[in-house]
Amino acid sequence: MSVPPVSASAPGKVILLGEHAVVYGRPAIAVPVWQTIATANVQAGSPGSGCVIVAHDLEVTIRLRQSGDDQPLALVTRLALAELGIAGEPDWHVDLHSTIPIAGGLGSGAALSTALVRALFAQAGRQVEPETVSRIVYASECIYHGTPSGIDNTVVAYGAPIWFVRGQPPESFTPPSPFTLAIADSGIRSPTKETVGDVRRAWEAQPARYEALFDAITALAYAGRRAVAAGEFTALGLLMDENQAILEQLGVSSTPLERLISAARDAGALGAKLSGGGRGGNIIALVKEERQATVEQALLAAGAARVIVTTIGALA
Ligand code: MEV
Repeated sequence: MSVPPVSASAPGKVILLGEHAVVYGRPAIAVPVWQTIATANVQAGSPGSGCVIVAHDLEVTIRLRQSGDDQPLALVTRLALAELGIAGEPDWHVDLHSTIPIAGGLGSGAALSTALVRALFAQAGRQVEPETVSRIVYASECIYHGTPSGIDNTVVAYGAPIWFVRGQPPESFTPPSPFTLAIADSGIRSPTKETVGDVRRAWEAQPARYEALFDAITALAYAGRRAVAAGEFTALGLLMDENQAILEQLGVSSTPLERLISAARDAGALGAKLSGGGRGGNIIALVKEERQATVEQALLAAGAARVIVTTIGALA
């Protein structure tokens, strides 16, 4: 009798306020996006096959015994097996699938690794805490991103909105009043590693200027936290617009992103900004329910490759 595979999944994510500054110890707010997910299915492989991970969307097959720790999914698997106290290599076959676009600022790498870790623990018959998942996944984020803050692995592992400050325990929260984001993909792939590296070089060249911009983002993040807690979404939209203006000054925006942001605002969004590393990837627009369809149409007309609408804090 064949045993059905053990399955686990993880969401994509967007950053409401605070990307880039968060790398430099400033606070940021991130939320999960469950409309786009990564899934891992694990089942017993043939005896002696070892641990094999097939990442279908990346078109890679990883044989653990032949892969070094520079392979993010191999590293995550080794760390998970070590955490599970499994010596040697079990004969497990893992299939990874994802609907999250790669290099689109939606945390695709963190989600794949998170789904993988959860599925490995499930296959071993063990529960795993979000902080353990997040810690293991952070190691793979360092390969994808260079010097990540840890916000992506944290929000994806917790699967809940978070207030995040690097090096501190995250605060997960449920917004008392739900709000809706339209997430529009520019269709342009932009590895986070590159924009994070560019901001670092610019910060090294002009530390006072960049520290001041990061401080301005800090004020927006605190104000955003208060606005979310109070359900003041007109205020939150304005804070997102202000954050976008600073991201432009940081040099991580682009004409295609700004075209989408303008289209969303013109169609009645309360505010809009890029999300994640920038240059390409996705923008987010805060929308009232009655403007949702109009904003979605405007984003598609302005060239969005796809639009996802997600409500944060909705009662299940
Ligand atoms: C990426 O989602 C967010 C950045 O701030 C990078 C990071 O925090 O590691 C751009």
